[in-house]
Amino acid sequence: SPRVLSGIQPTAGSFHLGNYLGAVRQWVALQETHDAFYMLADLHAITVMQDPAELRANTRLATAQLLAAGLDPERCTLFIQSHVPEHAQLAWVMNCLTGFGEASRMTQFKDKSARQGADRASVGLFTYPVLQVADILLYQAHEVPVGEDQRQHIELTRDLADRFNGRFGPTFTVPKPYILKETAKIYDLQDPTIKMSKSASTPKGLINLLDDPKVTAKKVKSAVTDTDTVIRYDVENKPGVSNLLTVHSTLTGAGIAELEERYAGKGYGALKTDLAEIMVEFATPFRERTQQYLDDPETLDSILAKGAEKARAVAAETLALAYDRVGFLPAK
Ligand code: TYM
Repeated sequence: SPRVLSGIQPTAGSFHLGNYLGAVRQWVALQETHDAFYMLADLHAITVMQDPAELRANTRLATAQLLAAGLDPERCTLFIQSHVPEHAQLAWVMNCLTGFGEASRMTQFKDKSARQGADRASVGLFTYPVLQVADILLYQAHEVPVGEDQRQHIELTRDLADRFNGRFGPTFTVPKPYILKETAKIYDLQDPTIKMSKSASTPKGLINLLDDPKVTAKKVKSAVTDTDTVIRYDVENKPGVSNLLTVHSTLTGAGIAELEERYAGKGYGALKTDLAEIMVEFATPFRERTQQYLDDPETLDSILAKGAEKARAVAAETLALAYDRVGFLPAK
């Protein structure tokens, strides 16, 4: 079956609603139909300063959340990036194929380095997308399930795969982004023109899945909409309402048209009250399951150990091929 690979940075503590609806939810679905590899991107995490104890705790917490969300280690390979040294090794080769200007044009780098200042931004942050390229190509992934904000990194992956294959002969599968239109970008509840994110959202605009459900309900109920009263999906003119409809529709399976009909003549309050309840119903068992996994570190470790072993088997084979293609003399 076709292969997918994706990753998430294990640094944020709680996943937010954008991570879940934009990516993790698709990962859960794709493990049924694809040979799926999912990764805690701890190498990416240290491109900005991390406290070591916090990084360790957050990596466990992120693993527990992925399992709580429905990843099944019998159906997918779940592993930690730093457990597979081939990521850093292939990244070096890919760095040598990437233009300096090409890397400079990556928008996430430009945003993050602008926020930090040129002298504080690390070279690791600069070369972050190239490490992501290596992540994907090592597994010969056909598709990469992510949110819209990762599209440019997948484009770079395609370019570098083509470049390598052109220069050294067919080696890497050229992957496609797997981005669902409806959930490609989940918006901030207070400013529905920006994406929900740990760094840009205010606390009220950001739904953390592990928040106290009461807090979550409150945030949904105070979401910014517009001065109109009609519940209609219209991203241009009604971004706030459209975002709420998207979240409702994805969590309940109800179609957008069906929801527009259901809420016809009712105010925004009705939609928000229902959605608050839906969110609480989703988040409560999610929190409980996450805690259960955290309480059982031995199971967690053994899942990650098996995952690393499976991942390394694939990654080592691809790296050996790539090393051979570039002309490295094999160690005898
Ligand atoms: P990260 O950790 O920032 O985010 C994890 C996933 O969540 C998606 N996402 C969103 N989707 C919709 N709406 C939002 N508001 C929203 N916010 C976040 C992201 O698009 C992402 O899919 N560089 C990656 C991690 C990574 C990776 C990889 C991904 C490392 N190696 C290889 C794919 C393949 C990142 O920082 O994601």
